[in-house]
Amino acid sequence: MPSSSFADSVLHWFSRSGRHHLPWQENPTPYRVWVSEIMLQQTQVSTVISYFQRFMARFPDVYALAAAPLDEVLHHWTGLGYYARARNLHRSAIIVSTQFQGAFPGNVERLCELPGIGRSTAGAILALGSGVRAPILDGNVKRVLCRYHAIEGWPDLPAVQKSLWVIAEEATPFSDFARYTQAMMDLGATVCTRSKPACLLCPLQTGCQAHAAGRVGELPHRKPRKTLPRRTICMLMCRTASGHVLLEKRPAAGIWGGLWSFPEFANVVAAQQFCHARRLGSSTTLESWPVVQHTFSHFHLEITPLVADAAQMTDTVMEAGRWLWYPLGPVSVTQTTAVGLAAPVRDLLQRLATGIAAPGTPS
Ligand code: ADE
Ligand code: SF4
Repeated sequence: MPSSSFADSVLHWFSRSGRHHLPWQENPTPYRVWVSEIMLQQTQVSTVISYFQRFMARFPDVYALAAAPLDEVLHHWTGLGYYARARNLHRSAIIVSTQFQGAFPGNVERLCELPGIGRSTAGAILALGSGVRAPILDGNVKRVLCRYHAIEGWPDLPAVQKSLWVIAEEATPFSDFARYTQAMMDLGATVCTRSKPACLLCPLQTGCQAHAAGRVGELPHRKPRKTLPRRTICMLMCRTASGHVLLEKRPAAGIWGGLWSFPEFANVVAAQQFCHARRLGSSTTLESWPVVQHTFSHFHLEITPLVADAAQMTDTVMEAGRWLWYPLGPVSVTQTTAVGLAAPVRDLLQRLATGIAAPGTPS
């Protein structure tokens, strides 16, 4: 699709399905567009509307804002959060009113010199408020463009960001750019949403590469994660001939808080010492199973399962409520032992019950 028909499709959709009655769309001066864009940076439209109206009633132009005490500006911001936005707004208003005779700069570079104004906000002020063609690339527009062109890589990587700006610039039409700019924001906010985009209602569907390739769910790529640290532990699976296995309740705080797990040890020797001290299992060698990996948000846990055969369900030195002889087998969940189990523990119990040391390994 050539870029003109991209814009045409977006504009055509906008006239039927865009948002046309937002307060900052009435009398869209650079000042009003600027204030609304700053408010909308981290806050939803539905919240911003009443704040914007109160703000404009009290500070109708850039001089009124510049002349107001900062405390009063912050008072009008109360509840919107990210108060640096309000302080920057006030500082910028003072600059515009004292150095620029109240007129906002008419190009991206000069606008970006004002505190709190980045390239996309500058583009929006120009396109929506000043009648100057300039591209925008806010989160909504990035998402639409990344999907439409199936852009690889995290969009905030400098190299990806750079090509997205080129694409955004080429897609911006030479006439009707104000409506186009608002339309792209609306499309991203209401159709091409982060989760469950409504591709069937989308004016760009026929040219959209992510849609064609069935990759809408994976684009744009998420921020790459740092490689996670690794922690290794041993889990002691101490079982009896009667088909019970020893579980320990985990402390309420920390991972798997309050769930039941196998007793955990830093290494094999510590597990052996535990067996010896608690008269669990006569043999000094523990059978180890292949390592099981479980990933948390902030680390990988590598579990070495160790099997010990205990003669009986000893209850010596077993503090009440902390230890449990858990019956193996499928019926156990319906019995009195319906307890919370961490996922790898549940899987290991399953394998203990069926006598399979590792998935796919014949017993
Ligand atoms: N988010 C950022 N700018 C916006 C605008 N002008 N309209 C609606 N949502 C927005
Ligand atoms: Fe987004 Fe779907 Fe439209 Fe592509 S077709 S731009 S993924 S809503």
